[in-house]
Amino acid sequence: MAPQFHPVLLGADTLGYSYARQFHEVYGLTSTVLASADIRYTSTSRFTSYTVIDGLDQEETLLRALREQAGRIPDGTRPLVLSGASDWHARTLAKNRADLEAWGYAVPVIDFDLLDRLTQKDRFYALCQRLGIPYPRTWVLPFGQVAQEVTDSGLEVLGGVEQLRGADFPLIVKPSNSADWHYADIEDKHKVYTLGSYEELVRVSAQVEASGYHHSLIIQEVLSTADTSLHTLTVFADARGEVRMAVSGDVVVQDRSAKGVGNPLVILGDRRRQDLLDHARRFIRETGYSGYANFDVMDDAQGNPHFLEVNTRPGRNSYYVTLAGCPFVRPLVDHYVLGRDVATSLSDAERAADRPFLFSMVPAAVALREAGDPALRRRLEPFFAEGTWANPLLNREDRLVQRMWARINFEHMRTKF
Ligand SMILES: Nc1ncnc2c1ncn2[C@@H]1O[C@H](COP(=O)(O)OP(=O)(O)O)[C@@H](O)[C@H]1O
Ligand SMILES: [Mg+2]
Repeated sequence: MAPQFHPVLLGADTLGYSYARQFHEVYGLTSTVLASADIRYTSTSRFTSYTVIDGLDQEETLLRALREQAGRIPDGTRPLVLSGASDWHARTLAKNRADLEAWGYAVPVIDFDLLDRLTQKDRFYALCQRLGIPYPRTWVLPFGQVAQEVTDSGLEVLGGVEQLRGADFPLIVKPSNSADWHYADIEDKHKVYTLGSYEELVRVSAQVEASGYHHSLIIQEVLSTADTSLHTLTVFADARGEVRMAVSGDVVVQDRSAKGVGNPLVILGDRRRQDLLDHARRFIRETGYSGYANFDVMDDAQGNPHFLEVNTRPGRNSYYVTLAGCPFVRPLVDHYVLGRDVATSLSDAERAADRPFLFSMVPAAVALREAGDPALRRRLEPFFAEGTWANPLLNREDRLVQRMWARINFEHMRTKF
């Protein structure tokens, strides 16, 4: 019997479309999409029922919309709410889990306290330190209370910015708490700064001091400036914190446009990084995490990897998990809707998820040019030559108008480089 559930997707980005595509491919379902804007490649899809809601980035509006939506779902069908690639959505779902569950939703996010802990970068690096997981050389500059585990971890907590007067620049500066950073009123605010001198650091620190941001700044060595130094890991853990499915990919190209900066656009999965996946496995076990986690890892100039962060939700590019051999919605449905143990519910091939893949949001010419290094280009070429690469938005099964919008998005990528 087909499972009785109904996907409700928040956001219509690449991940939103990937969900809708997969819920149809695997379960034959049409997904409800609630979005704050009309993203054509998703709204015109045969596999979505799409509503634009003003103010969906406000908690009250979001909850009201979800409550109304729950009321429209027939009895005996379980709504499953999923966020797009938005930390704010994942956070808001975790925070309101009790209400959402009371309205009937399956809510595939970790508990709020754990989410809040892991997404604060000073606390994340403190955990890495404790678990022997490599991370960049880091200083913590506090603008408020520092968590005990950070002070206890051996991370270097600065008494003031003066302590870095003689340090080697450039240095990376980024907020430990992106939720709080979102509300900080700072001119020309960045997600990540690369600062060239001590004077620049003093200036940014003074701006932050005046802004009302009351967490820490993370100050780090610059590991690399190349997109090709990045790796992405996606793992799915069962209720006991055991990783049951894991995929790694090497980032080839990242988005450089102002809005999308930092999103991987080309990911190559022809070399499984068991060393990195083993670190992720220990991290997940230690924290008692369950569900999807997505880690960012970056190599330094010597090629040594360092963990940058964990995203406590599926990444925008989660469709690469499908390409690797495990339809990425399947563990979510098994675990959160059907209450099955993914250790036994997934097939051997799905659990292994070790098929070579190339995920590309850009045309071959752009990917090959941006890859630069000839050795890396040679790894990409067979996928393009044999047509075995994939972009989740380009879907032959969807209707003509969707395929046209997806194609426009794809061709438009040429102008971003
Ligand atoms: N220490 C570092 N050295 C070089 N680049 C970095 C460093 N830290 C962050 N970056 C760059 O900034 C991006 C975002 O950093 P990350 O720590 O993943 O935070 P977030 O994604 O939450 O903004 C990374 O993908 C990487 O390109
Ligand atoms: Mg990141």
